[in-house]
Amino acid sequence: MRRAIIRGTGHYLPERIVENSWFEDKLETSDEWIRSRTGIERRHFAAEGQTTSDLGIRAARAALERAGMAIGDIDGIILATSTPDFTFPATATIVQAGLGMSRGFAFDVQAVCAGFVFALANADAMIRAGQADRILVIGAETFSRIMDWTDRGTCVLFGDGAGAVVLEAQDGAGTSDDRGILASDLNSDGKYRELLYVDGGVSATGTVGKLRMQGNLVFRHAVEKLASTAHTALGRAGLTGADVDWLVPHQANLRIISATAQKMGLPLDKVVLTVADHGNTSAASIPLALSVADGAGRFAPGQVLLTEAIGGGLSWGAVVLRW
Ligand code: UT7
Repeated sequence: MRRAIIRGTGHYLPERIVENSWFEDKLETSDEWIRSRTGIERRHFAAEGQTTSDLGIRAARAALERAGMAIGDIDGIILATSTPDFTFPATATIVQAGLGMSRGFAFDVQAVCAGFVFALANADAMIRAGQADRILVIGAETFSRIMDWTDRGTCVLFGDGAGAVVLEAQDGAGTSDDRGILASDLNSDGKYRELLYVDGGVSATGTVGKLRMQGNLVFRHAVEKLASTAHTALGRAGLTGADVDWLVPHQANLRIISATAQKMGLPLDKVVLTVADHGNTSAASIPLALSVADGAGRFAPGQVLLTEAIGGGLSWGAVVLRW
Protein backbone atom coordinates (compact mmCIF):
# COMPACT_ATOMS: atom_id res chain seq x y z
CA MET A 1 0.00 0.00 0.00
CA ARG A 2 1.32 3.44 -0.96
CA ARG A 3 1.73 5.89 1.93
CA ALA A 4 2.54 9.62 1.87
CA ILE A 5 5.55 10.36 4.12
CA ILE A 6 6.65 13.82 5.26
CA ARG A 7 10.23 14.20 4.00
CA GLY A 8 10.79 17.81 4.97
CA THR A 9 9.17 20.81 6.63
CA GLY A 10 9.90 24.53 6.30
CA HIS A 11 8.45 27.88 7.21
CA TYR A 12 8.79 31.59 6.78
CA LEU A 13 7.60 34.44 9.01
CA PRO A 14 7.70 38.07 7.86
CA GLU A 15 10.33 40.21 9.61
CA ARG A 16 7.93 42.62 11.31
CA ILE A 17 6.90 41.43 14.78
CA VAL A 18 3.98 43.20 16.45
CA GLU A 19 3.61 42.80 20.22
CA ASN A 20 0.17 42.92 21.91
CA SER A 21 1.04 46.31 23.39
CA TRP A 22 1.02 47.78 19.83
CA PHE A 23 -2.81 47.63 19.90
CA GLU A 24 -3.18 49.36 23.26
CA ASP A 25 -3.22 52.96 22.01
CA LYS A 26 -5.31 52.11 18.93
CA LEU A 27 -8.16 50.13 20.52
CA GLU A 28 -9.78 49.58 23.87
CA THR A 29 -7.74 46.45 24.63
CA SER A 30 -4.74 45.34 26.64
CA ASP A 31 -1.83 42.94 26.48
CA GLU A 32 -3.32 41.31 29.59
CA TRP A 33 -6.72 40.69 27.91
CA ILE A 34 -5.19 39.27 24.73
CA ARG A 35 -2.76 37.00 26.60
CA SER A 36 -5.28 35.67 29.10
CA ARG A 37 -8.17 35.15 26.62
CA THR A 38 -6.10 33.76 23.69
CA GLY A 39 -2.51 32.92 24.71
CA ILE A 40 -1.28 35.25 21.94
CA GLU A 41 1.68 37.51 22.80
CA ARG A 42 2.85 38.66 19.38
CA ARG A 43 2.36 38.04 15.66
CA HIS A 44 4.19 38.77 12.39
CA PHE A 45 2.79 41.10 9.72
CA ALA A 46 3.89 41.05 6.09
CA ALA A 47 5.61 44.17 4.76
CA GLU A 48 3.82 46.38 2.27
CA GLY A 49 4.00 44.68 -1.11
CA GLN A 50 4.94 41.30 0.42
CA THR A 51 2.38 38.79 -0.84
CA THR A 52 1.08 35.39 0.22
CA SER A 53 3.06 33.80 -2.62
CA ASP A 54 6.27 35.50 -1.40
CA LEU A 55 5.79 33.84 1.99
CA GLY A 56 4.84 30.52 0.40
CA ILE A 57 7.90 30.46 -1.85
CA ARG A 58 10.25 30.97 1.10
CA ALA A 59 8.54 28.27 3.17
CA ALA A 60 8.63 25.86 0.21
CA ARG A 61 12.35 26.45 -0.39
CA ALA A 62 13.04 25.75 3.30
CA ALA A 63 11.01 22.50 3.16
CA LEU A 64 12.78 21.34 -0.03
CA GLU A 65 16.14 22.00 1.60
CA ARG A 66 15.26 19.97 4.72
CA ALA A 67 13.95 17.19 2.44
CA GLY A 68 17.21 17.25 0.46
CA MET A 69 15.21 17.68 -2.74
CA ALA A 70 15.30 20.02 -5.72
CA ILE A 71 12.18 21.59 -7.23
CA GLY A 72 12.61 19.28 -10.25
CA ASP A 73 11.76 16.34 -7.94
CA ILE A 74 8.27 17.71 -7.23
CA ASP A 75 5.18 16.55 -9.18
CA GLY A 76 2.67 19.04 -7.82
CA ILE A 77 1.91 21.89 -5.43
CA ILE A 78 -1.23 22.22 -3.30
CA LEU A 79 -1.46 25.54 -1.49
CA ALA A 80 -4.03 26.32 1.18
CA THR A 81 -4.95 29.97 1.53
CA SER A 82 -7.89 32.33 2.02
CA THR A 83 -5.75 35.37 1.24
CA PRO A 84 -4.60 34.71 -2.36
CA ASP A 85 -2.37 37.20 -4.20
CA PHE A 86 -5.09 37.63 -6.87
CA THR A 87 -8.61 36.40 -7.56
CA PHE A 88 -6.91 34.20 -10.16
CA PRO A 89 -4.60 32.52 -11.08
CA ALA A 90 -4.17 30.22 -8.12
CA THR A 91 -1.48 31.45 -5.73
CA ALA A 92 0.00 27.94 -6.06
CA THR A 93 0.88 28.70 -9.70
CA ILE A 94 2.63 31.94 -8.68
CA VAL A 95 4.62 29.92 -6.12
CA GLN A 96 5.30 27.29 -8.81
CA ALA A 97 6.76 29.91 -11.17
CA GLY A 98 8.72 31.51 -8.32
CA LEU A 99 10.30 28.15 -7.51
CA GLY A 100 11.24 27.63 -11.19
CA MET A 101 8.95 24.62 -11.66
CA SER A 102 7.35 24.28 -15.08
CA ARG A 103 5.86 20.78 -14.99
CA GLY A 104 3.27 19.10 -12.80
CA PHE A 105 0.19 20.71 -11.29
CA ALA A 106 -0.40 23.61 -8.90
CA PHE A 107 -3.73 24.56 -7.34
CA ASP A 108 -5.20 26.26 -4.27
CA VAL A 109 -7.42 24.81 -1.57
CA GLN A 110 -9.84 27.11 0.27
CA ALA A 111 -11.01 25.84 3.64
CA VAL A 112 -9.89 28.86 5.69
CA CYS A 113 -8.20 27.82 8.95
CA ALA A 114 -8.79 24.13 8.12
CA GLY A 115 -7.14 24.64 4.71
CA PHE A 116 -3.86 22.88 5.47
CA VAL A 117 -5.63 19.80 6.87
CA PHE A 118 -7.82 19.68 3.73
CA ALA A 119 -4.76 20.15 1.47
CA LEU A 120 -2.79 17.44 3.29
CA ALA A 121 -5.67 14.96 3.06
CA ASN A 122 -6.06 15.68 -0.67
CA ALA A 123 -2.32 15.35 -1.33
CA ASP A 124 -2.35 12.03 0.55
CA ALA A 125 -5.27 10.78 -1.58
CA MET A 126 -3.47 11.78 -4.80
CA ILE A 127 -0.26 10.05 -3.71
CA ARG A 128 -2.07 6.87 -2.69
CA ALA A 129 -3.95 6.90 -6.01
CA GLY A 130 -0.62 7.03 -7.87
CA GLN A 131 -1.27 10.46 -9.42
CA ALA A 132 1.94 11.90 -8.00
CA ASP A 133 5.03 10.69 -6.13
CA ARG A 134 6.04 13.96 -4.47
CA ILE A 135 3.78 16.88 -3.56
CA LEU A 136 4.62 20.18 -1.89
CA VAL A 137 1.79 21.09 0.50
CA ILE A 138 1.84 24.71 1.60
CA GLY A 139 -0.24 26.86 3.94
CA ALA A 140 0.36 30.58 3.37
CA GLU A 141 -1.62 33.60 4.55
CA THR A 142 -1.57 37.38 4.84
CA PHE A 143 -4.62 37.81 7.12
CA SER A 144 -3.39 41.31 8.06
CA ARG A 145 -4.85 42.37 4.68
CA ILE A 146 -8.43 41.44 5.65
CA MET A 147 -8.51 42.83 9.20
CA ASP A 148 -10.94 45.52 10.33
CA TRP A 149 -8.50 47.48 12.49
CA THR A 150 -11.40 48.99 14.45
CA ASP A 151 -12.75 45.57 15.55
CA ARG A 152 -10.92 44.54 18.74
CA GLY A 153 -12.69 41.17 18.69
CA THR A 154 -10.77 40.06 15.58
CA CYS A 155 -7.78 42.24 14.64
CA VAL A 156 -5.71 41.26 17.69
CA LEU A 157 -5.99 37.56 16.86
CA PHE A 158 -4.45 37.03 13.44
CA GLY A 159 -0.95 37.06 11.93
CA ASP A 160 0.86 36.38 8.64
CA GLY A 161 3.17 33.50 7.73
CA ALA A 162 3.68 30.33 5.72
CA GLY A 163 4.63 26.72 6.30
CA ALA A 164 5.26 23.84 3.91
CA VAL A 165 5.82 20.10 3.87
CA VAL A 166 7.18 17.79 1.17
CA LEU A 167 5.22 14.56 0.90
CA GLU A 168 6.71 11.51 -0.84
CA ALA A 169 5.23 8.13 -1.72
CA GLN A 170 6.63 5.08 0.05
CA ASP A 171 5.33 1.52 0.22
CA GLY A 172 3.89 0.43 3.55
CA ALA A 173 2.26 -2.74 4.89
CA GLY A 174 -1.16 -1.09 5.15
CA THR A 175 -1.17 -1.22 8.96
CA SER A 176 -1.12 1.52 11.61
CA ASP A 177 2.60 0.74 12.10
CA ASP A 178 3.35 2.27 8.68
CA ARG A 179 5.14 5.58 8.45
CA GLY A 180 3.25 8.44 6.78
CA ILE A 181 -0.35 9.60 6.72
CA LEU A 182 -2.54 6.90 8.26
CA ALA A 183 -6.01 8.47 8.14
CA SER A 184 -7.92 11.72 7.86
CA ASP A 185 -11.40 13.12 8.46
CA LEU A 186 -12.83 16.20 6.68
CA ASN A 187 -16.11 18.02 7.39
CA SER A 188 -17.96 21.17 6.41
CA ASP A 189 -21.33 22.62 7.35
CA GLY A 190 -22.19 25.72 5.32
CA LYS A 191 -25.14 26.68 7.48
CA TYR A 192 -22.65 28.21 9.93
CA ARG A 193 -21.31 30.76 7.39
CA GLU A 194 -22.38 33.77 9.47
CA LEU A 195 -20.16 32.75 12.41
CA LEU A 196 -16.93 33.45 10.52
CA TYR A 197 -16.74 34.99 7.06
CA VAL A 198 -15.35 37.84 4.97
CA ASP A 199 -17.95 40.44 4.00
CA GLY A 200 -16.72 40.90 0.42
CA GLY A 201 -15.84 38.84 -2.64
CA VAL A 202 -15.65 38.73 -6.42
CA SER A 203 -19.15 37.61 -7.21
CA ALA A 204 -21.10 38.98 -4.25
CA THR A 205 -19.72 42.51 -3.84
CA GLY A 206 -16.78 43.04 -6.19
CA THR A 207 -14.66 43.98 -3.15
CA VAL A 208 -12.10 42.19 -1.00
CA GLY A 209 -13.96 42.63 2.30
CA LYS A 210 -13.00 42.29 5.96
CA LEU A 211 -13.10 39.33 8.34
CA ARG A 212 -16.16 39.08 10.60
CA MET A 213 -16.45 36.60 13.46
CA GLN A 214 -18.76 35.72 16.32
CA GLY A 215 -15.81 34.49 18.36
CA ASN A 216 -17.61 32.99 21.32
CA LEU A 217 -19.91 30.89 19.08
CA VAL A 218 -16.94 29.68 16.98
CA PHE A 219 -15.19 28.84 20.25
CA ARG A 220 -18.00 26.51 21.32
CA HIS A 221 -18.12 24.71 17.97
CA ALA A 222 -14.33 24.43 17.96
CA VAL A 223 -13.94 22.51 21.21
CA GLU A 224 -16.72 20.06 20.38
CA LYS A 225 -15.91 19.52 16.67
CA LEU A 226 -12.12 19.30 17.04
CA ALA A 227 -12.34 16.54 19.65
CA SER A 228 -14.88 14.69 17.51
CA THR A 229 -12.90 14.87 14.23
CA ALA A 230 -9.70 13.87 16.04
CA HIS A 231 -11.51 10.84 17.49
CA THR A 232 -12.86 9.86 14.04
CA ALA A 233 -9.47 10.16 12.29
CA LEU A 234 -7.73 8.19 15.05
CA GLY A 235 -10.42 5.48 14.84
CA ARG A 236 -9.90 5.19 11.05
CA ALA A 237 -6.18 4.71 11.71
CA GLY A 238 -6.93 2.00 14.30
CA LEU A 239 -5.50 4.20 17.06
CA THR A 240 -6.76 6.01 20.18
CA GLY A 241 -5.81 9.19 22.03
CA ALA A 242 -3.41 7.10 24.12
CA ASP A 243 -1.32 6.40 20.98
CA VAL A 244 -0.77 10.10 20.19
CA ASP A 245 2.77 11.36 20.83
CA TRP A 246 2.19 14.90 19.53
CA LEU A 247 -0.90 16.98 18.97
CA VAL A 248 -0.11 19.66 16.37
CA PRO A 249 -3.30 21.74 16.43
CA HIS A 250 -4.44 24.81 14.55
CA GLN A 251 -3.17 27.71 16.64
CA ALA A 252 -6.22 29.94 17.15
CA ASN A 253 -6.56 30.15 20.90
CA LEU A 254 -4.66 28.47 23.76
CA ARG A 255 -7.95 27.91 25.61
CA ILE A 256 -9.41 25.98 22.64
CA ILE A 257 -6.19 23.95 22.29
CA SER A 258 -6.09 23.13 26.03
CA ALA A 259 -9.77 22.16 26.16
CA THR A 260 -9.38 19.88 23.10
CA ALA A 261 -6.23 18.26 24.50
CA GLN A 262 -7.99 17.70 27.81
CA LYS A 263 -10.98 16.05 26.07
CA MET A 264 -8.50 13.69 24.38
CA GLY A 265 -6.65 12.97 27.63
CA LEU A 266 -3.43 14.57 26.35
CA PRO A 267 -1.18 16.61 28.67
CA LEU A 268 -0.05 20.01 27.32
CA ASP A 269 3.58 18.83 27.09
CA LYS A 270 2.46 16.61 24.20
CA VAL A 271 1.04 19.62 22.34
CA VAL A 272 3.06 21.78 19.93
CA LEU A 273 2.28 25.41 20.82
CA THR A 274 3.23 28.37 18.63
CA VAL A 275 0.16 30.55 19.21
CA ALA A 276 2.04 32.88 21.60
CA ASP A 277 4.54 33.92 18.92
CA HIS A 278 2.51 33.58 15.71
CA GLY A 279 -1.10 34.37 16.62
CA ASN A 280 -3.69 32.74 14.36
CA THR A 281 -2.14 32.38 10.89
CA SER A 282 -5.15 30.44 9.52
CA ALA A 283 -4.05 27.76 6.98
CA ALA A 284 -0.38 28.46 7.76
CA SER A 285 -0.58 27.68 11.46
CA ILE A 286 -0.24 23.87 11.37
CA PRO A 287 2.65 23.70 8.85
CA LEU A 288 4.34 26.53 10.79
CA ALA A 289 3.99 24.53 14.02
CA LEU A 290 5.19 21.33 12.30
CA SER A 291 8.25 23.10 10.92
CA VAL A 292 9.16 24.87 14.17
CA ALA A 293 8.88 21.63 16.19
CA ASP A 294 10.69 19.57 13.52
CA GLY A 295 13.47 22.15 13.34
CA ALA A 296 13.87 21.88 17.12
CA GLY A 297 14.21 18.08 16.77
CA ARG A 298 11.07 17.36 18.81
CA PHE A 299 9.63 14.57 16.62
CA ALA A 300 11.23 11.11 16.70
CA PRO A 301 10.79 8.57 13.88
CA GLY A 302 7.83 6.31 14.56
CA GLN A 303 5.94 8.82 16.72
CA VAL A 304 2.22 9.43 16.06
CA LEU A 305 1.24 13.01 15.20
CA LEU A 306 -2.32 14.32 15.14
CA THR A 307 -3.22 17.58 13.42
CA GLU A 308 -6.66 19.19 13.68
CA ALA A 309 -8.23 22.50 12.65
CA ILE A 310 -11.52 24.36 12.32
CA GLY A 311 -12.32 27.57 10.48
CA GLY A 312 -14.77 29.51 8.36
CA GLY A 313 -17.44 27.48 6.60
CA LEU A 314 -17.53 26.04 9.10
CA SER A 315 -14.96 23.52 7.91
CA TRP A 316 -13.00 21.21 10.17
CA GLY A 317 -10.89 18.08 10.06
CA ALA A 318 -7.96 16.04 11.31
CA VAL A 319 -5.03 14.07 9.88
CA VAL A 320 -3.16 11.31 11.73
CA LEU A 321 0.35 10.37 10.65
CA ARG A 322 3.34 8.41 11.82
CA TRP A 323 6.56 10.48 11.65
O1 UT7 B 1 -9.19 30.16 13.45
C1 UT7 B 1 -10.53 30.12 13.10
C2 UT7 B 1 -11.36 29.81 14.22
N1 UT7 B 1 -11.42 30.92 15.16
C3 UT7 B 1 -11.33 30.69 16.41
O2 UT7 B 1 -11.09 29.58 16.81
C4 UT7 B 1 -11.59 31.81 17.37
C5 UT7 B 1 -12.54 31.35 18.39
N2 UT7 B 1 -12.90 32.32 19.39
C6 UT7 B 1 -12.01 32.80 20.31
O3 UT7 B 1 -10.84 32.52 20.31
C7 UT7 B 1 -12.59 33.67 21.39
O4 UT7 B 1 -13.99 33.62 21.34
C8 UT7 B 1 -12.13 35.15 21.31
C9 UT7 B 1 -10.68 35.25 21.71
C10 UT7 B 1 -12.34 35.69 19.93
C11 UT7 B 1 -12.94 35.98 22.32
O5 UT7 B 1 -12.83 35.44 23.61
P1 UT7 B 1 -14.14 35.18 24.47
O6 UT7 B 1 -13.68 34.71 25.79
O7 UT7 B 1 -15.03 34.26 23.70
O8 UT7 B 1 -14.75 36.63 24.63
P2 UT7 B 1 -16.15 37.21 24.11
O9 UT7 B 1 -16.19 37.30 22.64
O10 UT7 B 1 -17.26 36.46 24.79
O11 UT7 B 1 -16.06 38.66 24.70
C12 UT7 B 1 -15.96 38.91 26.12
C13 UT7 B 1 -15.75 40.39 26.33
C14 UT7 B 1 -16.73 41.25 25.54
O12 UT7 B 1 -17.07 42.35 26.34
P3 UT7 B 1 -18.50 42.40 27.08
O13 UT7 B 1 -19.52 42.28 26.00
O14 UT7 B 1 -18.49 41.22 28.01
O15 UT7 B 1 -18.46 43.72 27.78
C15 UT7 B 1 -15.92 41.74 24.38
O16 UT7 B 1 -16.37 42.96 23.86
O17 UT7 B 1 -14.43 40.77 25.88
C16 UT7 B 1 -14.56 41.90 25.00
N3 UT7 B 1 -13.46 41.88 24.06
C17 UT7 B 1 -12.27 42.48 24.29
N4 UT7 B 1 -11.81 43.16 25.34
C18 UT7 B 1 -10.54 43.64 25.26
C19 UT7 B 1 -13.42 41.30 22.83
N5 UT7 B 1 -12.22 41.51 22.25
C20 UT7 B 1 -11.49 42.24 23.14
C21 UT7 B 1 -10.19 42.77 23.12
N6 UT7 B 1 -9.75 43.45 24.21
N7 UT7 B 1 -9.34 42.60 22.08
